[in-house]
Amino acid sequence: MPESWAETSGERLAILGASGHGRVVADAALGSGWGSISFFDDAWPILQVTGRWAVLGTGVDLQRMASEVDAVVIAIGNNRTRLMWQRQLVHWGLPLATVVHPSAIVSRYATLGAGSVLCAGAIVNPFARLGGGCIVNTAASVDHDCELADGVHISPGAHLGGQVTVGEATWIGIGANVRQCITIGSDTVVGAGAVVVSDIGSNVVVFACPRDQCTRASRRSRIRTPRDDEGRTCEARSTRDKYRHPRSPRVVRHK
Ligand SMILES: CC(C)(COP(=O)(O)OP(=O)(O)OC[C@H]1O[C@@H](n2cnc3c(N)ncnc32)[C@H](O)[C@@H]1OP(=O)(O)O)[C@@H](O)C(=O)NCCC(=O)NCCS
Repeated sequence: MPESWAETSGERLAILGASGHGRVVADAALGSGWGSISFFDDAWPILQVTGRWAVLGTGVDLQRMASEVDAVVIAIGNNRTRLMWQRQLVHWGLPLATVVHPSAIVSRYATLGAGSVLCAGAIVNPFARLGGGCIVNTAASVDHDCELADGVHISPGAHLGGQVTVGEATWIGIGANVRQCITIGSDTVVGAGAVVVSDIGSNVVVFACPRDQCTRASRRSRIRTPRDDEGRTCEARSTRDKYRHPRSPRVVRHK
């Protein structure tokens, strides 16, 4: 039988978003003292259970059930969607929870915005400032004096050096590393495993390591003149070759 508020006691946390990430957030919340969890997801009523928890309604139902909720946290991976819901729930008067897994390490001098989630093994060092609705995922780290705007997601195992600034709704991919003092714009994606050694603008996708770094806008704007290793135009060997330009590997194309 799935758990829901009816069968358990303690403070009641509603989680909006019943995906795998939602279950990770539930586990972190229960480990850090929340008494009971119930989920809300727009896949309800088809989706009734996630893991061992009941799904009680859709996101809109949260407005009606506000009196039954002590706080809500949003576990939606898409940064813009998460932010949109976060603002809507605040507008409806629902209090936002900030969930920190008991194994996360957060400096007493760091600040976490409402609705942020820190997963197992995450580290946030002194004077880092995280906006609302951020995710610092499993074993990711945000070093001293970093500044993350609202809705930033630092994926599992990604690391930000000190004094890195990340704009709203930007997604740093799994295992990416960002050198200290770098500025990254808003709505940008840093691909899995990327190494970032210079500033990145807004609305771009950047991936791979500096020598081969590819920066582009979106799937639809991939058309570029392919170049060989000497920079001459040639037939594209692969999609990546379409982006690569050996003399200017950091060309930015806006979305
Ligand atoms: C960068 C990224 C956004 C690109 O996604 P996409 O637009 O769907 O790109 P595709 O998968 O179509 O790949 C296009 C090309 O780039 C290459 N590529 C994609 N991601 C790459 C990455 N992170 N590093 C190096 N090369 C990459 C692919 O191999 C492919 O090359 P090919 O054309 O030579 O075969 C995505 O691959 C990524 O890294 N996302 C982050 C995932 C993540 O961190 N998840 C964590 C969940 S918590």
